[in-house]
Amino acid sequence: MTHLISQQLGWSKSALISRDQESLSPEFVSAWQAFEQRRLNGEPVAYMVGVKGFYNIDLHVAPGVLIPRPETELLVECSIKHLESLNKGPLEKSQALDLGTGSGAIALAIAKNTQNTFVTAIDMSTDALKIAQHNAQQLELSDRVSFLQGSWFEPLKEDDRFDLIASNPPYIRHEDPHLTEGDLRFEPIDALTDHHDGLNPYRTIFKESPSFLKPGGLLIVEHGYDQSEVLSQLLKNAGFIDIQIHFDLAGIARALSAKLG
Ligand SMILES: C[S@@+](CC[C@H](N)C(=O)[O-])C[C@H]1O[C@@H](n2cnc3c(N)ncnc32)[C@H](O)[C@@H]1O
Repeated sequence: MTHLISQQLGWSKSALISRDQESLSPEFVSAWQAFEQRRLNGEPVAYMVGVKGFYNIDLHVAPGVLIPRPETELLVECSIKHLESLNKGPLEKSQALDLGTGSGAIALAIAKNTQNTFVTAIDMSTDALKIAQHNAQQLELSDRVSFLQGSWFEPLKEDDRFDLIASNPPYIRHEDPHLTEGDLRFEPIDALTDHHDGLNPYRTIFKESPSFLKPGGLLIVEHGYDQSEVLSQLLKNAGFIDIQIHFDLAGIARALSAKLG
């Protein structure tokens, strides 16, 4: 609450404390009441203030894009570990791919926290790509993160190859009641569900990734709390090996990584 008042007034938190004798103008009070009502209607704070902290970066967010979740930081952490383990020299580039980039969260956090990684970030959504490009500029990462529009691998060139392919695709089943609850009501539906069983994006990603991974390259995907087993099987069926389960801070299986056999 203090954070929101301070943001709306344009005062620092310490000014809020030191100026506690000042009365607020009627204009501010009525603007505040309208703002408060938006929150009471359930609008996510991140959309109201236009920013969300993710990993060690701040991202602009707006209703056209998914609000990055803390669970997704696990995917970033594993991706950075893999890229660092490649032990490339200072002049050698690593190539990473972020499928369904949204606000650019995964692509930008990876670029920010690794040296010489070039990230290609793909999304179908025009609104998402505008926000992601804005975030890349704000973070001064536009020279190492490039954005393409299209469905999954479609915008890539046939000979593109990556050390890492990361994705947090829309994985909620179309009939899941959570889609009509809480923050999810305000987020773009195509960022949340594949309008099917929640597995279609993985079927495409597992089928196509082998053509775009370098030898020794890593595929890593985030998934729903109950999808680990079925996705491990899909990865095996697609010929992947070294399948690792990654658990979030709540101990829930949240991501799977795998390499090519
Ligand atoms: C769950 S959101 C993830 C956003 C961001 N990577 C993050 O972790 O915060 C899924 C993203 O996939 C995008 N998307 C959905 N279908 C897609 C497709 N067929 N091809 C590319 N991107 C797609 C959505 O627009 C959305 O931005």
